[in-house]
Amino acid sequence: MRGALSVKWTSHADHFKGELSVTTTVTTGGVAARAVDVWKVYGSGEAQVIALHGVSVELERGHFTAIMGPSGSGKSTLMHTLAGLDSVNRGEIFIGDTRLTGMSDGELTNLRRTKVGFIFQQFNLLPTLTAEENILLPLSIAGRKADPAWYDTVIKTVGLADRLGHRPSQLSGGQQQRVACARALVSRPEVIFADEPTGNLDSRSGAEVLSFLRNSVREFGQTIVMVTHDPNAASYADRVIFLADGQIVDELREPTAEAVLDKLKGLDNAAGRLAGGVA
Ligand SMILES: Nc1ncnc2c1ncn2[C@@H]1O[C@H](COP(=O)(O)OP(=O)(O)OP(=O)(O)O)[C@@H](O)[C@H]1O
Ligand SMILES: [Mg+2]
Repeated sequence: MRGALSVKWTSHADHFKGELSVTTTVTTGGVAARAVDVWKVYGSGEAQVIALHGVSVELERGHFTAIMGPSGSGKSTLMHTLAGLDSVNRGEIFIGDTRLTGMSDGELTNLRRTKVGFIFQQFNLLPTLTAEENILLPLSIAGRKADPAWYDTVIKTVGLADRLGHRPSQLSGGQQQRVACARALVSRPEVIFADEPTGNLDSRSGAEVLSFLRNSVREFGQTIVMVTHDPNAASYADRVIFLADGQIVDELREPTAEAVLDKLKGLDNAAGRLAGGVA
């Protein structure tokens, strides 16, 4: 469904002060990204690792999905294959209706520039550029200009209006990650992929970033997929997918931190039983 929506966004968090009234187009419904029976194998012979064992998943448009699971379970691999950063050995990946599998490197680069946004644990800002230049960099590389009204909305809601001329070294970790969030959001990508976006932040800065991500889903219909180890971070999502040994083993809708923790304990116990040789 595509339609004009008038959004009034009032936030009570310190950094999101102010009331904004913008008109934006929210695309909801349908599937933003899809994996169909995806296999990913690294190495060969004795060093072979099957990182993804036939994973099929649909990520709904306008939803916030968290991916969780033990270290080495394939979370980053799944995200990288969905984002077109890594190829698959078998199966298919779609962003919207576009099939990534079989695309040339040039086509994939173009797709990532236009349809995908990224947020990384280490922020990945360019140190010599100001916050504003970092935010606009992906658009400049793609030869596109920011929609001025949308740019202002993003800057105001992420609380960076007075920090735009600062370089990353002059910003706190939380502010740097908010610059990275603004950079991901400003091109209005089909999907934003975030790999442990709060992994390097204290709990207060982490909560600000998570609130911002959740609000951009609720208010602007953005689709976000986030890998996290933190049950509290996962509780900001609409849905949590659990991976173990390269397979999706469970999921939760409308998760609470407690429910996520219970599921994770169940996965750990199952892994312990397997390691102990008990069925
Ligand atoms: N480039 C690579 N070459 C070889 N093996 C790899 C490569 N990338 C990942 N793997 C292996 O694939 C498996 C899944 O890795 P992945 O990085 O997806 O795990 P993860 O769930 O993101 O773990 P973490 O929580 O530690 O980040 C692991 O066994 C890992 O060692
Ligand atoms: Mg990882």
